[in-house]
Amino acid sequence: MSRPVPASARKRAEELRRQINYHNYRYHVLDAPEVSDAEYDRMMRELEDLEAKYPALVTPDSPTQRVGAPPLEQFASVVHRTPMLSLGNAFDEGELRAFDGRVKRQLGLPAEERIDYMAELKVDGLAVSLTYENGVFTRGATRGDGFTGEDVTLNLRTIRAIPLRLLVESPPPLLEVRGEVYLDKREFARINQEREAAGEPPFANPRNAAAGSVRQLDSSITARRRLDMICYGIGAAEGVEFDYHHEILEYLEQAGFKASPHSKLCRGIEEAAAYCREWQERHRELTYGTDGVVVKVDSLALQRELGHVSRSPRWAIAYKFPPEEEVTVVKDIIVSVGRTGALTPVAVMEPVVVSGSTVQHATLHNEDEVARKDVRIGDTVVVRKAGDVIPEVVSVITSKRTGRERKFEMPTRCPVCGAEAIRPEGEAVRRCTGIACPAQLLGRIEHFFSRGALNADGIGPALIAQLVAKKLVRDPADLFFLTKEQLLGLERMADKSAQNVLDSLESAKHPTLARLIYALGIRHVGEHVAEVLADRFGSLERLAGASEEELAETPEVGPTIAASIAAFFRQEQTRELLEKLRRAGVSPVVPAAAGAAEGPLAGKTVVFTGALSMPRAQAEQIVKSQGGRAASSVSKRTDYVVAGEKPGSKYERARELGVTILTEDEFRRLAGIEG
Ligand code: IVH
Repeated sequence: MSRPVPASARKRAEELRRQINYHNYRYHVLDAPEVSDAEYDRMMRELEDLEAKYPALVTPDSPTQRVGAPPLEQFASVVHRTPMLSLGNAFDEGELRAFDGRVKRQLGLPAEERIDYMAELKVDGLAVSLTYENGVFTRGATRGDGFTGEDVTLNLRTIRAIPLRLLVESPPPLLEVRGEVYLDKREFARINQEREAAGEPPFANPRNAAAGSVRQLDSSITARRRLDMICYGIGAAEGVEFDYHHEILEYLEQAGFKASPHSKLCRGIEEAAAYCREWQERHRELTYGTDGVVVKVDSLALQRELGHVSRSPRWAIAYKFPPEEEVTVVKDIIVSVGRTGALTPVAVMEPVVVSGSTVQHATLHNEDEVARKDVRIGDTVVVRKAGDVIPEVVSVITSKRTGRERKFEMPTRCPVCGAEAIRPEGEAVRRCTGIACPAQLLGRIEHFFSRGALNADGIGPALIAQLVAKKLVRDPADLFFLTKEQLLGLERMADKSAQNVLDSLESAKHPTLARLIYALGIRHVGEHVAEVLADRFGSLERLAGASEEELAETPEVGPTIAASIAAFFRQEQTRELLEKLRRAGVSPVVPAAAGAAEGPLAGKTVVFTGALSMPRAQAEQIVKSQGGRAASSVSKRTDYVVAGEKPGSKYERARELGVTILTEDEFRRLAGIEG
């Protein structure tokens, strides 16, 4: 038992907290401090001393709780109460006006009507959702896939621009605040200098640095990076109501956040377009990175009427600033080999900063492109980031040629395995023919476990390269048979990291069917086509057995894709791979996304208790993929409680309330997990 707290101490602690919170707000949100740093530190120390003396005084929202939490082993997953959507893009004013046209058509309004829009800067950082319960910051999560994110509460607590308690008179029972965590350009430069001095690789851009800092298992590292946050909206809310988006921003500002600075209420799309033009010119003046303007219908009633398509609201659009172009010199042209064996020429350049990140490599796509642009080694070139991500060479500044430039020739052998590289008639791409080419294997395995595929955290290029080099794996399925001893034999692999790899592989075993199809890396089968195929065929067996004609009849699957799929499943190697995956216990959750709306768990709330044979995050993922919701506590509204070994008090509670209790096996059957 901790010692009783005298009333005077309690009062003093409350007073200090109130003052410290106020000064935090002045300093971090308003940039207008009222007291010196020394005075602030004194208050903080006094509070720390009080809390050390009377631990019962420590509350989760105390300013002292912003730092010093012990490192976590991994993040728990959090299901967002309302999903975090993404936005459609407009790349020019024409597309912005087309958006306005669609809005009016859907609302049945005449074309000459003027809609009120809020225009806000699109901050380039990491999207997070903050949950406030009765005004207290209780949970912070990353966006994740929009439905489930990672619990990064401890790290977000260290960010001074996030109030631990809402500064409003009567706080609502529930409020999810949505915004972007980012790093100032100066702070980004400071962190990179520090990293380089310590011999660590610098972050490529402020967004990566912000994401890396928030997704830190050790929150004291996050605390050392001065992250900031700008809020632009809310998710679920109880006990507060708004009629207009601009009211939400005003409320957030009063509650202690930085709410979309420089935002503007625009009467009609032309005013919004003018705002976009203005900030396209001015955005580099800002101390943080922005990549466009978000234009939103201001009326929430109209927003509701418009709704959303797939994952983007119909009432908002992101106007993207045009990519920046920079000039640099091509030092070399190298050839990289991808997972399909494609040989891609890549320009190696003098490092140059384009749209906020350092660029050294730019794809030249294929040999025809090199010839068409006539890029030579030694050339001065213009580069930009295509779609703002992949750097590419736009053109050569021929006036800068000295005559010492060298022409590039595409090799006819694979630079990795030495096998012949062939360019079939009528195709632009040259491919390595070596079936055992390590570059292809590496790429295939990386793809298999990548985010859009099986999404196994921690199974990255460095680990895969070692496994391939040591001949421990010959295909993606082999990873599931690795033992801890084998992993411990690798470089920089201690017991804990080996266990993490095994856990991560275990939790990757039940992806949706679409993800599994995509993971196989069939040529021409991207994420979207994989979803179409999953919907149409329903199982891997049926897809593998489909004839080329059947495949070609599938909407969006033309003869080229059909031929590629049929050829893939005809191969002996493919059959072996599928068989091995089956033996490893890899099986898709059915019915995949398309069935989720009417799946067995659609609309159901599920609570887990006790030890399951699969990680909790995976079980929650399964519920979600079936259209259900995983909750953490049992109430009358809970539909199922799944009891593992040694179930806890939730089991008792479920019995009291008469909630259906399932064993793990029953749950698996209900969710349609085979095996
Ligand atoms: S509104 C339902 N406003 O951009 C619409 N998003 O592609 C929710 N972002 O993931 C987004 N600044 O993280 C909105 N002022 C702003 C924003 C903003 C940055 C990010 C956001 C979202 C992404 C949309």
